[in-house]
Amino acid sequence: MSLTNTRSTFEQMAAEPASKYTRTAMVLHWTIALLIIVNVMLGLGSESLPDSMVRFAIDTHKSIGITVLGLVILRILWRTTHRPPPMPRSFPKLEQIAAHVAHFLLYLLMIALPLSGWMHDSAWKDAATHPMYYFGLFTWPRVGFIEHIDPQVRETLHTRLGMLHTWFGYALYALFAMHIGGALKHSWIDRRSVISRMVP
Ligand code: HEM
Ligand code: HEM
Repeated sequence: MSLTNTRSTFEQMAAEPASKYTRTAMVLHWTIALLIIVNVMLGLGSESLPDSMVRFAIDTHKSIGITVLGLVILRILWRTTHRPPPMPRSFPKLEQIAAHVAHFLLYLLMIALPLSGWMHDSAWKDAATHPMYYFGLFTWPRVGFIEHIDPQVRETLHTRLGMLHTWFGYALYALFAMHIGGALKHSWIDRRSVISRMVP
């Protein structure tokens, strides 16, 4: 390789924007992804568990959900102060836009799922007599104004918010499928892995 070539390669590398997410972004992405997957399994599977385990499963589901809410707030703060690596230019414009839209919607769901769950739980008629404990460690507050609504209205709200929580779940499954499908398409069809951008 000639000297000129070597220099231009170095110059290119220096000018090249970062091609990976920051380590913090990676840790937050994979921790949240894992917690969400476990929580979906607990949410969907709790009814088929033996009676003695249902309470534990739902309580754990609530605590994990609140943890996701906290982590996603941190993640959004991190994201607003750290630019992600730009998408490879070789990807068609439409695919880049679709990925950005899907990511934005996933952020919305990461907030909407725990919030709707927390509000649904706060409207539960037995909320006052069954305090919520964060992983059994300390009492986690219910959403105050919901607890004090007229009991009949609260019951309706409980049902509606439960439905909303379930529908947010459906939206998550669809986007999750697109998200994984997109990542696999880039790896297998385009032969341009994006997974390496999200792993150290
Ligand atoms: C990462 C956040 C969360 C995810 C992904 C999630 C997901 C789900 C899913 C998929 C279901 C089953 C819905 C169905 O029947 O189709 C569910 C049920 C439920 N979720 Fe969540 N949830 C989250 C956070 C929360 C939080 C923070 C709370 C309360 C503090 C909560 C309370 C509940 C309750 C009470 C149920 C009904 C359980 C039952 O009676 O079977 N969720 N959730
Ligand atoms: C096993 C499952 C998962 C895989 C393999 C995966 C893979 C990836 C990859 C490779 C990226 C980087 C895309 C790029 O190059 O720009 C990414 C970004 C992202 N993922 Fe996932 N992901 C998974 C689960 C999830 C889950 C469960 C969520 C949320 C519900 C999620 C939300 C996001 C978001 C919002 C971004 C964009 C980050 C940003 O630019 O701020 N992922 N994912």
